[in-house]
This record gives sequence, C-alpha cells and structure tokens, in this order.
Amino acid sequence: MLRTALAQLRASEGHGGATVALVPTMGALHDGHLTLVRRARAEADHVVASIFVNPKQFGVNEDLDAYPRQLAEDAAMLEAEGVALLWAPDVEAMYPSGFATNIGVAGVSDGLCGAARPGHFDGVATVACKLFNQVQPDMAFFGEKDFQQLAVIRTMARDLDLTRPHVDAIIGVPTVREADGLAMSSRNRYLTPDDRRAAAALPHAMRTAIAAIEGGDDVATALAGLQADILAAGFASVDYAELADSRSLAPLGTLGKTPARLLVAARIGNTRLIDNMAVNAPA
Ligand code: PAF
Repeated sequence: MLRTALAQLRASEGHGGATVALVPTMGALHDGHLTLVRRARAEADHVVASIFVNPKQFGVNEDLDAYPRQLAEDAAMLEAEGVALLWAPDVEAMYPSGFATNIGVAGVSDGLCGAARPGHFDGVATVACKLFNQVQPDMAFFGEKDFQQLAVIRTMARDLDLTRPHVDAIIGVPTVREADGLAMSSRNRYLTPDDRRAAAALPHAMRTAIAAIEGGDDVATALAGLQADILAAGFASVDYAELADSRSLAPLGTLGKTPARLLVAARIGNTRLIDNMAVNAPA
C-alpha cells in the first residue's frame, strides 16, 4: 500500500518523476515539526511524514508507555500543512517477531545523550534506516533540536549509501523556540506550570555561557557557571553541559577555528530537557 501510494506520488510529475521529502516523527506534533514539514514542502514536490513511536529508542526506565499519542489530531495537522502521505506503521509492521538487526553508529553516538541513554541511538539509527528504505526519499528533514541524532543519521545515511553520493540530502532545520526561548519539544507537555516557567532558564543560561566563551572566557569556567545557573533556577540535575565540535561532537576544551556547539541535557521535575546552540569562533 505504501509502495503504491509512493509510486503514484512519483508519477505525478511526468517524465523525470516527482521529488519526495521525508519528515520522520514520533507524533505529538508541535510547531517544530510543522516547521520541518513547511521546509520540506518548499524543497520537494511531495512530503511524506511518518509517525512511529519507536520502542527501540526508549530505555527500560524511559517514558515509552507515557509518550503522548494523538494520531487523529496529528494526521489533521499534517493534512492542513499539505503533507501528501502519512506513514504510520504499527510496531508489528516495523519489528515483526524475529526482528534481529541493530544499527550502531560508532563514535558520534557514544558521548552526550548516548552516554546517559545506552542503546538510544542504535534504536534511532535502526528505525531511520528502515524508514529510508521504505519511503526512499530524495531528502529527509530533521530538527537541529536533536543535534546528536542529526549527526548520527547523517553518518549512517552516508555510510550505508541511503542517500545519493555528494548530495546533502539530510537537512537539519534550526530549533523552533517558545516566546521565552525554551526549545519546542513533545516532552514540554510533561512540565508542571512551575517547572515550565523555570525551564526558560536553560536557554537563557546557555546564551550567557556562549557570550562568555565567544568573548574569550575559559570554557570550563563558563560551563561550570552554566550548570550553577540551571541548578539555581530549579533544575534537579545536569546530565551534561559540553562544548563540542559541530561535526564529530568530540568535546572541546577551547574554542578553535572549526564550528562548535554548546549542548546541554538537564532534568527538571521528571522531565529531561535537551538543547544546543552554535558557538562562533572569534573572527
Ligand atoms: O526525532 C524523532 O522524533 C525520532 O527520534 C525519529 C527521528 C523520528 C526516529 O524515531
């Protein structure tokens, strides 16, 4: 059924065939997802969105059962945005009994969220590979909010020839933020009103640390200040606050000439929030 629908989309543009963009999601859509769809619509003839809450990327103590599911509402939002096809397979269709394959992307998966969530990026890479094979898109769109995920998927797509060589077919879209700066996330809905107010301290503290680092301050001191600011605002703990090379995600002790990124994961209430921002090297 998916194949037939995709063939029809491809045929809609005559001889050369229409281009298809994939926007993979786990549903519980917000403006961040819709921004991916809008960007995809601007770049391709047709957009295919997928919704699949992927059990393989949740750890044993994580929120798989509680993860918000609202398929009818999501489908209506996608239709209103002009998505040509919604692919929402069930778990049995994606992982039939006997499913035995695991894709691991060494290096880029290991630190940051990979250290705190063992197996998470294997789950992401495995499902993303399946979605690429099922939909065979010309390009796919992912939010920069999940910056490490984007790096993992880029590496996997290149290594496994999932996209055409020398074409930047994995497109990262800048994070969409609430008015107070908090990065949009399906998990923000878990926050109590008090925690939601306090959560805005995360992007604020990150901007302060970035200004310090870009201004030449010692990186370790700026990161320690960032952690102290987040904890003082009411966060329970900080999983990591790191300056990293934007491509390899290797930790950086100093700001060099290559593009750098500040990445943070911190817990507030029962919710783990992540965020990341670019850090510019001095001119
Ligand atoms: O970012 C997400 O929503 C998921 O990790 C993805 C890429 C759809 C894979 O399940």
